[in-house]
Amino acid sequence: MQTPLDEQLEKVATLNELKQLCEHYLGSEVSKGEKFVFGEGSPQAEVMIIGEAPGVQEAKTGRPFVGNAGKLLNTLLNQIGLEREQIYISNILKTHPSGNRKPYRGEIKKELPFLLRQIELLRPKLLVLLGATALQALYDPKAKITELRGNWIEVKNLPTFVTYHPAAALRDETKKKTLEHDFSKLQERLASAV
Ligand code: URA
Repeated sequence: MQTPLDEQLEKVATLNELKQLCEHYLGSEVSKGEKFVFGEGSPQAEVMIIGEAPGVQEAKTGRPFVGNAGKLLNTLLNQIGLEREQIYISNILKTHPSGNRKPYRGEIKKELPFLLRQIELLRPKLLVLLGATALQALYDPKAKITELRGNWIEVKNLPTFVTYHPAAALRDETKKKTLEHDFSKLQERLASAV
């Protein structure tokens, strides 16, 4: 059954309209002094990267991946010849989970429809999922990141590459090499015309 939100989501025709709708619905969920983080990048992006949820820095600035994990993400992108401006970056949640915890299932259920519409409006050629939260929210709640990372799956009819979240590599240095290896696989795919 369609909810009033589903109907409104269907009606929005541009990313800007979606951002306004998102602010209307989620603005009140954002803690004082924080911003909601819609996502950013080129509206012509062929690659859409999806992380977990905004952290403290992101909620402060209203921009995704601007903290330490974001710095590592920028390096990984640059290593494969991509600039942030060429791609689009978003998250499963648009609001910062208090205390930097993992998103609750209820929060994901509430906020995911905005991301799903964002994917439809952006129409990227491929998705990249960073970490278990993105994988489980968009593919299968039981999927294991350790089993699927480095592999291609299908999400919303799009080829979708799975890898670790850069924050995991900040906690465990060995994962950085794996991330670099995964990003080089992504580069190969992009070189073969997506
Ligand atoms: N981690 C995420 O998953 N997303 C951000 O935007 C920042 C950190």
